[in-house]
Amino acid sequence: MPPPPTPRPPVMVAVFNQKGGVAKTTTSCNLAVCLRAFGYHVLLVDLDTQGNATGSFGFTPLPATGSFEVITGRAKAADIALDTPYPGLWLLPATTSLRDDTHMLAHAGRRRGLLEARLADTGVDVVIVDCPPALAAATATALASASVVLLPVRPDPFAHEGLVNTWYEIKRFRETINGRLGVAGILMTMSGSEPAGDDVARVIRAEFGDHVYATEIATDPKVAEAAGMALPVAVLDPDGPAGRAYVDATRELLFRLARHERPDLLLPEPLAVETALNQLREWRATTHAALLRVPGRGDGWAGTGADGHEDADTVPDDYFGPVPATDPSPPPPRPGLGRMAAALLAGLLAGMAIEAGTGILSGILGRSAGDAAVRYTGPNPP
Ligand SMILES: Nc1ncnc2c1ncn2[C@@H]1O[C@H](COP(=O)(O)OP(=O)(O)OP(=O)(O)O)[C@@H](O)[C@H]1O
Ligand SMILES: [Mg+2]
Repeated sequence: MPPPPTPRPPVMVAVFNQKGGVAKTTTSCNLAVCLRAFGYHVLLVDLDTQGNATGSFGFTPLPATGSFEVITGRAKAADIALDTPYPGLWLLPATTSLRDDTHMLAHAGRRRGLLEARLADTGVDVVIVDCPPALAAATATALASASVVLLPVRPDPFAHEGLVNTWYEIKRFRETINGRLGVAGILMTMSGSEPAGDDVARVIRAEFGDHVYATEIATDPKVAEAAGMALPVAVLDPDGPAGRAYVDATRELLFRLARHERPDLLLPEPLAVETALNQLREWRATTHAALLRVPGRGDGWAGTGADGHEDADTVPDDYFGPVPATDPSPPPPRPGLGRMAAALLAGLLAGMAIEAGTGILSGILGRSAGDAAVRYTGPNPP
């Protein structure tokens, strides 16, 4: 997809529910890869100290530099976003500092539009933010900038209460901090996994009406299998129940964004569903081939600046500094051959041993992002 002719701020989708374990991370990762398959340039931002989205793409342990450093102005997203095996999809990882210094984000959480401004130099079409399961400082930072919030809900007996509380918090947030925060819908996840799930889903549909997606993400063992292989299920099994449902949910998200009729949510037309599915199948074929043929230890396909961060016990008044202006001289795009392919090729040429088993992609390709310098290869650096 060629870069858009005029840089515009990305549409930022915060994936949030106060309740834990409702598939926020699974949804974030799959929406991100599906949006890429539909032709958009996408940045996935991991704002959860658990770092599950980062781990889902094979980056373990958490790198030294990531979303926290970008929010606090210590690093630029365009410099440190990580390549993924899906060209045009980048990851801004969670970091250990996000875990250790999360209280510092309280300052950022009050800054309306801060995250949006920090990501302005990435030139992507869509930012997906995986939020932690609480209205913590990191979530506040996301909601203070987000264009819309998407709520995954697992229909279990406590789902309704959790959803009502989350809905109330979002309303409160819109009234106080981010008046343009929209709702991109409620997505039922892991449906069919609870005996009472259908009843709960019916109650939620009755109460929230059109806000609830027609698409439901079925409970599917392939999701856990995919997680073990550091793959989104939409890549591992694009035609399976969950994989295909995430494609449909992405299409529905795009319809819903367009329906808002807000100029800031306008995206170019997506590619056709069959084209997106073919892209996912192609990625499945390449990653599957990689899983069968990877060497035991290869060069990583991604990394980040290893400059780490300075620990600080107190936050100076100007800690978050002025929001930086858009970088006028971004790095040039990277040539076509992805790092993953290069790493595999290098490993194969070196005649390294073949390993089998789950998690191998992360073991081989997901070298700690602190190990090597990486430059952002964003599509349309302004
Ligand atoms: N459709 C599905 N079918 C089966 N298992 C699923 C499905 N979606 C998610 N899971 C599993 O449910 C668990 C919770 O998912 P996930 O980590 O995405 O939730 P979360 O809301 O991000 O959790 P947290 O609140 O801790 O951040 C994971 O083990 C995941 O693999
Ligand atoms: Mg999560």
